[in-house]
Amino acid sequence: MTTERTSVAILGAGPAGLLLSHLLHLNGIASILVEARDREYVQARVRAGVVEHGAADILRQAGVGERMDREGLPHGGIELRFDGAGHRIAMSELTGRHITVYGQQEIVHDLAERRIADGGDVRFACGPAAIHDVDSGEPSVTYTVDGAEHRIVADFVVACDGAHGAGRPAMGETLKTFEKVYPFAWLGILAHAAPRVDELVYANHERGFALYSMRSHEVTRLYLQVPSTDRLEDWSDERIWDELAVRFSLDGEPWEPTRGEIFERSLAPLRSYVGEPMQRGRLFLAGDAAHTVPPTGAKGMNLAIRDVDLLARALTEQLRHGAEEGLRTYTDRALRAVWRAEYFSWWMTTMLHRFDGDSGFDRRVQTAQLRSVVGSEAHATALSENYVG
Ligand code: FAD
Ligand code: DHB
Repeated sequence: MTTERTSVAILGAGPAGLLLSHLLHLNGIASILVEARDREYVQARVRAGVVEHGAADILRQAGVGERMDREGLPHGGIELRFDGAGHRIAMSELTGRHITVYGQQEIVHDLAERRIADGGDVRFACGPAAIHDVDSGEPSVTYTVDGAEHRIVADFVVACDGAHGAGRPAMGETLKTFEKVYPFAWLGILAHAAPRVDELVYANHERGFALYSMRSHEVTRLYLQVPSTDRLEDWSDERIWDELAVRFSLDGEPWEPTRGEIFERSLAPLRSYVGEPMQRGRLFLAGDAAHTVPPTGAKGMNLAIRDVDLLARALTEQLRHGAEEGLRTYTDRALRAVWRAEYFSWWMTTMLHRFDGDSGFDRRVQTAQLRSVVGSEAHATALSENYVG
């Protein structure tokens, strides 16, 4: 077994892990990042698309926002579509801020490229790493490649390894969990088709929720609420397009998205989860390792970016100046934003989706809620402030 030493050992090369290793590098702190999958897989994994105003600023300030600013699509509003009519929420006018539509895999690509150009120690295809001795002064990470075991001893270990990594189990008994599972999933597709709309459309329909998004002027991103028991095989291209047209109906008529070749499809279950605290001894959790939000509020990646922004500062203060305060208060500061995002994501999810067993009363309350949001500037501003971040 080889043993190496570093200041910060990081698990996971998603947006959280890569950005943390970059921010630490900018502050002169050494780290080693260990990722289970290979680089091609990580960069091709299609997920989020909405970057909040504040998260975009963090990326810009870290010098990794150049391609996002060139190729990303700034959006100043979204549409809420229900009862056969569309209503624009003018987020920029209401808040002075906007979102940028830019694929998560592009951010991951930009960060990985930059880490490698800077000579960063980012190790892909390591298989699942394990975390040890977090309550001691010498926490470590191990992984095995081609039968050879590697051990990294660090001052601190940060788990940015998502919802199914080693970070959550390593918290052991310390972890108190809060969870909500929704009885549906999102079927997401990418298609070679010019988006028919300029802004995102969140549609509430009696057959279920649908979302119109995009990645560029040539690539459309679309989502459908489906029962969590559905499989991808249940959804032919034809069925997907037909169902989208019904759920986006306007004035009682089906409304067709521009069709094109579907080149990516996936199913994502919806859940809300928070694990508290986000630290045990010398182990810290960031991003999806610490919390999950249903995608309706477009918050997951943005929270991951905020967590590591806090953590990079706190680790730097500790490692450079011995100042403990930032790390000691990390959980409390991160959780404030996390719970606000949990609340917003749950609220958007319950307002926009179809729940089995909903009564006529529940449906009418949902519509009343949507009418209130689009009819009241105060209510629309509250949605916008949460959405743009
Ligand atoms: P991840 O991206 O999950 O990265 C974790 C990494 O750790 C992975 O690369 C994994 O391979 C690796 N790993 C796992 N276990 C180990 C191990 N033991 N050792 C080493 N490596 C390991 N968020 C938004 O902000 N806006 C949106 O518009 C949005 N839309 C979404 C749409 C969908 C359909 C989905 C599914 C998610 C969406 N999200 C959105 C959420 C967002 O994608 C996640 O919150 C984000 O990926 C979290 O980043 P992360 O770096 O914490 O974790
Ligand atoms: C996208 C994903 C979301 O979860 C969302 O709320 C908006 C857009 C997207 O992938 O484009």
